[in-house]
Amino acid sequence: MNITPKPNFIQVFSGECWLKDNKTTYITDEKMKDEAYTIEINDGETIITSKGEKGKYYAELTLAQLERAGKTPLCKIEDEPEFAYRGFMIDSARHMQTIDEIKAYITAAASFKMNVFHWHLCDDQGYRIESEKYPNLNKIGSYRKCHGFKSDNMEPYGGYFTKDEIRDVIAFCKEKYIDVIPEIDMPGHTCAIIASYPELTCRSNATVEVATDGGIFRDILCAGKDSTLEFCYGLLDEIADLFPGEYIHLGGDEAPKARWCECADCQKRIKDNNLKNEEELQGWFTQMMIAHLRERGKKVICWNESLHSGLIGKDDSIICNWMDRKNYCSDFANKGGKVIAEDFYHYYLDYEYGMTPLKKTYEYNPYFDGLNSEGEKNILGVETPIWTENVKNFDRMSYMCFPRLIAVAEAGWTRRSNKDYADFKVRVENQRESLASLGIKQADKKCWDPGVLVRGKIILGRLKSILNPQAILVFLFPNKNIDL
Ligand code: ACM
Ligand code: ZN
Repeated sequence: MNITPKPNFIQVFSGECWLKDNKTTYITDEKMKDEAYTIEINDGETIITSKGEKGKYYAELTLAQLERAGKTPLCKIEDEPEFAYRGFMIDSARHMQTIDEIKAYITAAASFKMNVFHWHLCDDQGYRIESEKYPNLNKIGSYRKCHGFKSDNMEPYGGYFTKDEIRDVIAFCKEKYIDVIPEIDMPGHTCAIIASYPELTCRSNATVEVATDGGIFRDILCAGKDSTLEFCYGLLDEIADLFPGEYIHLGGDEAPKARWCECADCQKRIKDNNLKNEEELQGWFTQMMIAHLRERGKKVICWNESLHSGLIGKDDSIICNWMDRKNYCSDFANKGGKVIAEDFYHYYLDYEYGMTPLKKTYEYNPYFDGLNSEGEKNILGVETPIWTENVKNFDRMSYMCFPRLIAVAEAGWTRRSNKDYADFKVRVENQRESLASLGIKQADKKCWDPGVLVRGKIILGRLKSILNPQAILVFLFPNKNIDL
């Protein structure tokens, strides 16, 4: 049947009906889980059973898909998600989207029963949240001197979302049972913040600009200065006031330590706190932010690099596993820490279909290698990001994300043993029209799983486009101050 993500149990009986002609009966079953539902479609009556409104909402999403497909077979459906966390991330820092585009994307993701919107709102290339407390974040940090990312458009680029716009998106998500998690990436990926307030970095004489290219940048927040900590607390307070949800994402990825190695304040902090090295300093810094947010009733999510210090415990933060070469995430989960599967090679939708074909995304197992049976229980769910260094407008975003986002939605909802790629391809092709009604142009079927030759060409092209010698140097030697 034409339902995506595929429900866990469907029994089809003989006969068909038009759902619009059926009366609907709602039954409450206190014993069911919040998101679970059953639907019985009889000739003349549709019966929805759920614990409450959330289960009813998911049942209605299923019925909406069936209704769009024409006459519905009489049937019984029993359904509940595999994972509690079914997330999608939008990077609005590198390139912004309009609020209407963001809402269209959310509507589409919601229709496939996703329930977390992780909003990446600040990075080296721009700070995108209105700040009353720190106005330079908008005056300076929200703008870069040109479009950048190898665009030859030399006009300044930028902007930010007002608090009212953000509140509007949060309210929109609430109606769809979607939690909004803002990401304030720190201590790295902070050129836009440092450009706004240069005293926050280790080198007071440095000129740091809002970045106009991708990569990893050495100037990061100074963890040695109390004034930087105070700034971060103030910033997180402003974010905690704006976003009502339980979680704030603190980033923590790709923070090279070269500046910290040479900073007297950072070295003093290491010594005063008996820390072993700069990696532990990052752990200490993150713990200070976690403690601050805890006092405000907030919990934290970080990228997997935050585990490198060994100082983040299982109750301190949920971890997003995007690229973990040394089993930090499986060890963390095996010891009780909660982890979200967001694998770079399978779920990063800014990479071409030639690098990450639909089938590869679909078949990824969120129970990644290294987990024992305890660890598997600690996989909270899945998330798929769209980073926007190379995704400069909504048509490109639509093409890159659909249908691959739907493959991740199915991994989030459908039991693994029930998944079937051939059947999935038919079901997602059927989504084309309803996505188009939201302004989303799903990639053509011929693009989904390119052949070897096309893949080779695309991989070479992509490698050439990301070949940035300075960025490679920082990646290879994160703790050294070597420049070209
Ligand atoms: C990341 O892709 N740096 C989380
Ligand atoms: Zn420092």
